[in-house]
Amino acid sequence: MKTPVIMDMDPGHDDVIALFLAAGHPDMDIRAVTTVSGNADIGKTTRNALVAADTAGLDKVPVAEGAGRPLVRMPEHAPSIHGESGLDGPALPVPAHMVEERHAVDVMEEVLLHSEEDITVIATGPLTNVALLCRKNPKAARRIRRLSIMGGGTFGNWTPAAEFNIYADAEAAEIVFASGIPITMCGLDVTHQALASESVVERIKEIPTMAAQFTYELLDHFQRAYEERFHLALPPVHDPCAVAVCLAPSLFTFESADVKVETAGKHTYGETVIDTTAGGPVQIAVDIDNDKFWGLIVQSLKNLP
Ligand code: BDR
Ligand code: CA
Repeated sequence: MKTPVIMDMDPGHDDVIALFLAAGHPDMDIRAVTTVSGNADIGKTTRNALVAADTAGLDKVPVAEGAGRPLVRMPEHAPSIHGESGLDGPALPVPAHMVEERHAVDVMEEVLLHSEEDITVIATGPLTNVALLCRKNPKAARRIRRLSIMGGGTFGNWTPAAEFNIYADAEAAEIVFASGIPITMCGLDVTHQALASESVVERIKEIPTMAAQFTYELLDHFQRAYEERFHLALPPVHDPCAVAVCLAPSLFTFESADVKVETAGKHTYGETVIDTTAGGPVQIAVDIDNDKFWGLIVQSLKNLP
């Protein structure tokens, strides 16, 4: 049976690759794509999601715009990685796909309440929309079978303590981690193993689909940005890990932990404080089989238009 999912994202290069991985896999059924402010402002992340939906042939999947700013703080964007558009690299045509009139949180609520099966939510941006859903309609939030997030880790990338998605709305992340929703977390510890090697990028370049060519151009920009900003020769491709962990958990090893989010620290705002000493409700992916991970992505890119 296919896993029904909502993809909540701030595209973002790796968000788009996450969407392609899900869209091209026969075991995943995308019920909605929802957007959030993060890598770029909400107008741009929504436009980017629409372009990605066009490229993946997701004509019938609703794309809904969500929170335009974090719950408490001012918006944080990442142009040093994703460029001013949020998706620098490939040409970004005017999308054919129309954005929903309803707010993303309303769309999430409706999908959750009207589905016969419980839904998996894959969140690859700041957790603002998910936190708003928890506050607006806890009954709908309880229909989330599992929330798979990319975020956090034992080290930071946006500050020494904090990963970007959690830093960009730590108050939202605090609400979500305290919500009781079953959470799987792909933090930087695992996503920094999901590196796009030169041979992987060449393999993708050879795939004659629109989605593969788009991905090749995304990875080309992403690699140069990571080299300039972080002096990393190979870029960690974070967000598809949150999809792969749902499709093929056997590619990962996990630790159970209790996770708290720092919202008050002067130097540690957005840190995920991970306690593995007594287990805990959060399944944290700590290791990944990188070859098989890229094998999944390559297969999805072959399956798409
Ligand atoms: C996360 O931040 C964003 O820039 C990426 O899309 C990813 O979700 C990595 O810290
Ligand atoms: Ca993202």
